[in-house]
Amino acid sequence: MSDAPGIALVTGAAGGIGRAVVERLVRDGMRVGALDVNAEGLVALAADRPDVLALTADVTDEDEIRAAFEALRGQWGEPDVVVNVAGYFARHRVPDLSRSEWDRFLAVNATGPFLVCREALPAMIAAGAGCIVNIASTAGLQGGRDRAAYCAAKGALVQLTRSLAIDHGPDGVRINAVAPGLIDTEMADWIRHDPAALAGFEASLPAGRMGTVEEVADTVAYLVSPAATYVMGATVAVDGGSSA
Ligand SMILES: NC(=O)c1ccc[n+]([C@@H]2O[C@H](COP(=O)([O-])OP(=O)(O)OC[C@H]3O[C@@H](n4cnc5c(N)ncnc54)[C@H](O)[C@@H]3O)[C@@H](O)[C@H]2O)c1
Repeated sequence: MSDAPGIALVTGAAGGIGRAVVERLVRDGMRVGALDVNAEGLVALAADRPDVLALTADVTDEDEIRAAFEALRGQWGEPDVVVNVAGYFARHRVPDLSRSEWDRFLAVNATGPFLVCREALPAMIAAGAGCIVNIASTAGLQGGRDRAAYCAAKGALVQLTRSLAIDHGPDGVRINAVAPGLIDTEMADWIRHDPAALAGFEASLPAGRMGTVEEVADTVAYLVSPAATYVMGATVAVDGGSSA
C-alpha cells in the first residue's frame, strides 16, 4: 500500500472502457498497472505514459495474474485500487452453445475477477484500506435475449461483489460494481453495425442514446474516491435508464 494518490490495477485495459478508466485514474493522479491479454493494445496505451505499467496477462490464468501483481509490486507496490474491466461477450442461444464456450463466459467474466480479487485482498485487508470496482453489466441485473451465459456470468459477478463487500467492508475494503448498459465500444459492434436496430434500441432508452466510455470511467472514479466512502456492495447502473 502506498500514500495517496495511489496505485491502481485495471484489467481489460486495452479495451474501450478499460482504456478510459486507465486514462481517468492517471488524470486523477494515480499510477496504473494496465493489464490485458492484448499485448499490442497495451503498448499503445502505455507509450509515453510513465504512470502506466503494461502488464500482459490472461485474467483466467492464476499464474499470469500472480506474475502481473508481482511486476506491479516490484515497480510501485501493492494496488490501493483494483478495477476488473476485462470481459467477454458474444451472442448465442443455449441449444447451440458448446460446453467450452459456456466455460469461457464464466472464466473471463466471473472467475477472472475472483482471481484478481483474491490476489489483491490480503494486502488491502492488512492495510485496512482499498477499493475494488467490478465492471458487471445490466445483463447481470436482468435477463436478455441471445445472451443467457453472459447474463449468468455477469450475475455471478454482481453477487461476488455484494458478498465480498459484506465480508471485507469491516476490513476497510470497499467493493462495488458498475453495470453499464450499451456503451460505444467494439463490444457493441453486434448492434453498432446494424443502424436500424441501434436506432430502435436508442429510442427505447430514457437517455435516447448509447453511453460513452468516459461516462463509465467517471462512475469508477467516483466509486474509488473519498466521495463514495459510504458506498459498499452497490451495483451502480450506468445505462441511460435501461434498467429503470
Ligand atoms: N460495451 C458495452 O456495451 C458493455 C456493456 C455492459 C458491460 N460491458 C462490460 O464492460 C467491460 C469492458 O468492455 P468493453 O466494452 O470495453 O469491451 P472491449 O472489447 O473494448 O474490451 C474488453 C477488453 O478485455 C480484454 N480481455 C478479454 N478477455 C481477457 C482475458 N481473458 N484476460 C485479459 N483481458 C481480457 C480484451 O483484450 C479487451 O481489451 C466488459 O467486462 C464488458 O462485459 C460492456
